[in-house]
Amino acid sequence: MMLDQPEPQTVAPPEHFISIKGLCKSFGNAVLYDNFDLDLPRNQLVSVFGPNGCGKSTLINMISGLTPFDSGEILIHDKPIRRARIGYVFQNYREAMLPWLSAYDNIAYPLRVRGMPEHECRDRVATLLNTFNINLDLKRYPYSFSGGQQQLISILRALVAEPEVLFLDEPFSALDFETTLFVRDKLQEIFLTTQIPMFMVVHNLEEAVFLADTILLLSKRPTHLVEMVSFDAPRPRTLDTLSSRPFVEVSRHCLDIFRQEMRK
Ligand SMILES: Nc1ncnc2c1ncn2[C@@H]1O[C@H](COP(=O)(O)OP(=O)(O)OP(=O)(O)O)[C@@H](O)[C@H]1O
Ligand SMILES: [Mg+2]
Repeated sequence: MMLDQPEPQTVAPPEHFISIKGLCKSFGNAVLYDNFDLDLPRNQLVSVFGPNGCGKSTLINMISGLTPFDSGEILIHDKPIRRARIGYVFQNYREAMLPWLSAYDNIAYPLRVRGMPEHECRDRVATLLNTFNINLDLKRYPYSFSGGQQQLISILRALVAEPEVLFLDEPFSALDFETTLFVRDKLQEIFLTTQIPMFMVVHNLEEAVFLADTILLLSKRPTHLVEMVSFDAPRPRTLDTLSSRPFVEVSRHCLDIFRQEMRK
C-alpha cells in the first residue's frame, strides 16, 4: 500500500521588499503624505530623489521604523516593520559614530546590544571585514579616520547584524568627491556580494541614477510618486556607465520630470 506523501511546502519569496498602502503623515497642519502607496520590486537598489523638504528623510524614517506615521500600512518583505531586520546608515557619519568607542567597537555595537557572546561578535566582524577586503586599523577611534573611511565604518556597522534591508539617507552628502567615489564603489560591491535590497535617499540626480535599479521621483508636498524610473545597465557600474547612452538618457529623463514638477 502506498502512503500519501505530504506535499512539499514551497514558500514563495515576497514579491516586494517594501510595500506601502494608504500612508498618511502630517506634522501639525503640514500634510506630508496623504494616502501614499508604493510597491518596490524585491532584490533591488532603489534610490529616492525629490525636492528639498518634500519628506524623503521622513519617508525613509517611517519605513525603517524610526518615525511613527498617522495611518496606513508599511510592510518589509510582507512583514510589519517591527518584525523586519533592518540596517540604517545615517546622513552624517560624524554624528552617527559613538566617539568614545574604537572603530571596532562601533561596528560590533549592534551585536553586543543584542547580547551576542564576544567570540561570536569577533567572528562576525572578522567575516565582514574579510568579505569586503577592509584593511583599517580598527583599534583607532572614529575621529582619526578620513570621512570616507568613517562612512564605510558606519555602513559596516549597519551590515554586521545581517539586515534584510539596508536604508541609507544621503550617504554621500557629507563626503567630498573623491571619498564619494570610494564609498559608492564599496556600496556597489556590498550590494553585489550580499544582494541585500537597499533604499537610499540621494540629493544629486546623477548619484541617484548611477547605482539604482529603480529611481523614485517624488513631488512637492503633499508628496506623491511622480514616476518610478528603471535603469537596467549591467553591473558593476563603472566610469564608462556615466558616459553610456542609457545613463545619459535616464538622467535626462529624470531631470525633465523634476523640472516639470518644480514648475508646478
Ligand atoms: N519632527 C518634525 N517636526 C516637525 N516638522 C518636521 C519634522 N521632521 C520634518 N519636518 C518637516 O517635514 C518636511 C519634510 O522634512 P524631511 O526632512 O522629511 O524632508 P527631506 O525631503 O528629507 O528634506 P531635505 O531635502 O532637506 O533632506 C519639512 O518641511 C520639515 O521641516
Ligand atoms: Mg532629508
